[in-house]
Amino acid sequence: MHRTTFFQSAFLAAVVGASVIAGSSMTAQHPAAPITVWGLAQGQDTVPKVYTDSQATAGQAVWTKNCTECHETSDVTGADFRTKWVGQSLFSLYETIRTTMPDGNPGTLSTDEYASTVAYILKLNGLPSGDVRLATDSVTLSAITFRLPAASGTENTQNSSASHY
Ligand code: HEC
Repeated sequence: MHRTTFFQSAFLAAVVGASVIAGSSMTAQHPAAPITVWGLAQGQDTVPKVYTDSQATAGQAVWTKNCTECHETSDVTGADFRTKWVGQSLFSLYETIRTTMPDGNPGTLSTDEYASTVAYILKLNGLPSGDVRLATDSVTLSAITFRLPAASGTENTQNSSASHY
């Protein structure tokens, strides 16, 4: 009985301490929490908008100039691409492209151009644009998982009586 009480209070003290630290570190740098996942499968009813339309337009120009000599659109929208990338973070996709493409000259584009190309790929996959540009930093990109809206190929298996999410 004594031991339990001791451990309980030690645990409580640790929890309180941790939340004070967490609270005080949340002051300025990150006003909004990053988006963690998207997709109807996660019980969300809207798809977060993680790139802007002008960014995708810029990405289309990058794609046409640097990628279409080897790639067709279906290389970044088709079943193989989706099987491989759905569920991965956008950082994995961005970093793979940045470090391996254009094949033979990897890393030769600016980080902005790589991010724009990823934005264009999101657009090609039917994801909506919004007001916030797709970032180029690993922390933000790692927090976004590549998922597809139900309308673009995956079945919407959401059921209003499902309670396990
Ligand atoms: C000179 C030809 C060439 C160019 C130019 C090129 N690619 Fe590729 N790309 C390839 C080849 C070949 C593969 C398959 C390589 C592999 O699977 O290892 C590939 C694979 C990919 C993949 C799939 C990677 C994966 O692991 O699933 C993506 C995405 C991609 N390229 C994007 C791009 C983008 C974006 C550009 C332009 C910035 C680009 N590529 C330019 C030849 C090229």
